[in-house]
Amino acid sequence: MTERSAQSDPFDLVVFGGTGDLAHRKLLPALYHREPIGQLGEDARIIAVSRRPLSDEEYREWAHNAVCEHVAEVDPKALDRFLARIQYVSVDVAQNTGWEALEQKLAGREDVTRAFYLSVSPDFFGPICSALGEHNLVTDRSRVTIEKPIGKNGKSAHEVNETIGSVFKEHQIFRIDHYLGKETVQNLMALRFANVLFEPLWNAAHIDHVQITVAETLGVESRAGYYDTAGALRDMVQNHLLQLLCLVAMEPPESMAPDSVRDEKLKVLKALRPMSAEMVERNTVRGQYRAGASSGGAVKGYLDELGRNDSTTETFVAAKVDIENWRWANVPFYLRTGKRLASRLSEITIQFKDLPHSIFLPDAGRIAANKLVIRLQPDEGVKMQVMIKDPGPGSMRLREVPLDMTFAEAFNVRHPDAYERLIMDMIRGNQTLFMRRDEVEAAWFWIDPILEHWSHLKEAPKPYTSGTWGPSASIALIERDGRTWHDETH
Ligand code: BG6
Repeated sequence: MTERSAQSDPFDLVVFGGTGDLAHRKLLPALYHREPIGQLGEDARIIAVSRRPLSDEEYREWAHNAVCEHVAEVDPKALDRFLARIQYVSVDVAQNTGWEALEQKLAGREDVTRAFYLSVSPDFFGPICSALGEHNLVTDRSRVTIEKPIGKNGKSAHEVNETIGSVFKEHQIFRIDHYLGKETVQNLMALRFANVLFEPLWNAAHIDHVQITVAETLGVESRAGYYDTAGALRDMVQNHLLQLLCLVAMEPPESMAPDSVRDEKLKVLKALRPMSAEMVERNTVRGQYRAGASSGGAVKGYLDELGRNDSTTETFVAAKVDIENWRWANVPFYLRTGKRLASRLSEITIQFKDLPHSIFLPDAGRIAANKLVIRLQPDEGVKMQVMIKDPGPGSMRLREVPLDMTFAEAFNVRHPDAYERLIMDMIRGNQTLFMRRDEVEAAWFWIDPILEHWSHLKEAPKPYTSGTWGPSASIALIERDGRTWHDETH
């Protein structure tokens, strides 16, 4: 199937952190992908900004390598067209120098969309925004994109939002959570709101519980410096897992308009049952990986990677979360995420309730409750577990089978990377898949007491061997409720 996309209006995309890892691995490859399909209009420019003194040509060579390294099939003509759009400006944000060169680059283009992408440490969000304001670079058609982490807790997130908000209006601010750009995450909305089948069952009357697992096999490796100041709760739960939870739990929005969707997500965040100290102890598990085996090879433990042995930063979190509203009363959401786990697997499992009554004889076999598994990674798709009659003669026997639909096979298309969609949405000015300020702050409001309580615990995170499913306490967390984590069963 051929990919189709409308051509964008003219734009200037200014990427701060233009020589950084994200630009190399994600942003440039994502932008390149929109070239062969004609989505980047003729008058679209990419202006990379960083401190290094590079010429346009030198930067283009760097961009050429980034695309060739991270894109599976590169069309040389499209790559030439793509590279011709790229320019480079050296700005030293820390020293506050070089802004005039950027002013010159942008001069005379006040009427085109001007998108600033801050792919830099959050410490620079404030100085960059202030400098953009002082140099009159923020036009009515400007917008700004920031990456997480947005703060380290509710207070600092509020400060970051205030700083950015003093230069850009909320409708100009695009806070990225790249999970929202993933194909299956959007499919979750299609599944829920483009079918009549699920919505009548999507509530406490029919759903027993929900599981959200985001498991990685990678460790922290070269990111240990950043990661040790964050940990899995801040790095994954505050944003990606809570966003997934919101999409599963929210009421049907009025439309796909940005504020309709974001209003509904916000209501879910506000309905999360706050965790008291006692609940934190009972309903959360934190772990830290030790040496073990991952992807077939021996790997170091977290502390060895970090080069210190006193860190209590968690690389694994499991939590049982309650949503206090009518739809989800007494339906726990079990969240789990970690590094160096047994496999790379991101899944949302909707576990329906048992049948109210069985008409079958005991020898028909066990009737498993229906289960809807929405797989984000590695192979995106949706699987519905249903009971059928075991085919053939003889007495009535029942069997559980998956109705499996792996999207890539069904439609034979390449799955765009989350960044492709998000960057183009930002350029088009569509905020539906971006986090609003109040959402980010509400998520922190729920996370803060957990962080606070953990900080008082004497006990270190529970160790787990790399290549396993995390500390045994995580298994106990769900099993004490008479339930099991989905992946252990397949
Ligand atoms: C990032 C986290 O936001 O998401 C990383 O900072 C994590 O620690 C990554 O590895 C996971 O993203 P994905 O798309 O590979 O599941």
